[in-house]
Amino acid sequence: MDLTEIDSFDISADHLRKVVALTGAGISAESGVPTFRGEGGMWRQHRPEELATPQAFASNPQMVWEWYLYRRQIIAQSNPNAGHDALVELEKVLKDRFILITQNVDGLHRRAGHKNPIELHGNIFLNRCNSCSERYPDDTLDFDKLPPLCLNCQGQIRPDVVWFGEGLNHVTIEDAFLHSQQATLFLSIGTSAVVHPAAALPVVAKDSGALLVEINPDRTPITSLADAVFTDSSAQVLPDLVNKIKQIETKSKN
Ligand code: OAD
Repeated sequence: MDLTEIDSFDISADHLRKVVALTGAGISAESGVPTFRGEGGMWRQHRPEELATPQAFASNPQMVWEWYLYRRQIIAQSNPNAGHDALVELEKVLKDRFILITQNVDGLHRRAGHKNPIELHGNIFLNRCNSCSERYPDDTLDFDKLPPLCLNCQGQIRPDVVWFGEGLNHVTIEDAFLHSQQATLFLSIGTSAVVHPAAALPVVAKDSGALLVEINPDRTPITSLADAVFTDSSAQVLPDLVNKIKQIETKSKN
């Protein structure tokens, strides 16, 4: 696959009938939030099965919580970057013809101003009871002793995220597949595209006729499928790409 320059990237108004973006940890890298895989990735220092599994929580909930609180701290100190901002701009231009699906639990898309991202893996700042599933905002829980306990059933409270070996919310993932099937342009941004079911979304989009664009400095399993590949960082590529889309949209309306 040849690498693409924004100027020579060939898209038309027809590709903008429905645009779907799937983001991964790479979009938040330039905000200072470590990715999972690759250089500096968190899974180089920690084993997923020791920290992000139901088994880990069952055997050592305090350790799991400490790791999540540490990650929360890093995220709380970071801010959305130009890549997140560009996607908010895209939503303003395309309105309900743009759908944002993210694997990230950092909430940076919302903080940038995105109204309703599909958060496939949950949100690190939300909590739920591991026994009765009741959800709790932080200020209702006591974090002095970990894990916090459920006010209803005294069950253990856990981060409201999806762990390895757990299923995704049915409605959420069905929605994501439906939107991907309908996409005319699909942007795969900053994801290693190895964790399923999210990794299947770009493939489904491409099989259903979408133009598939990847933004990632490294090759992934979908690189060879992509119609265009941008290897600069998402904070560099997305503002230019969104500008180009805006120009096409404006022209098509005149
Ligand atoms: P990964 O850490 O697996 O992949 C991040 C990708 O971002 C890599 O392919 C990098 O090359 C790329 N990247 C790094 N910096 C970038 C930048 N500035 N601009 C663009 N791309 C950049 O993260 P995900 O694919 O999101 O799941 O991982 C998927 C899931 O696996 C996560 O949601 C999490 C994880 O373990 C759960 O916790 C369930």
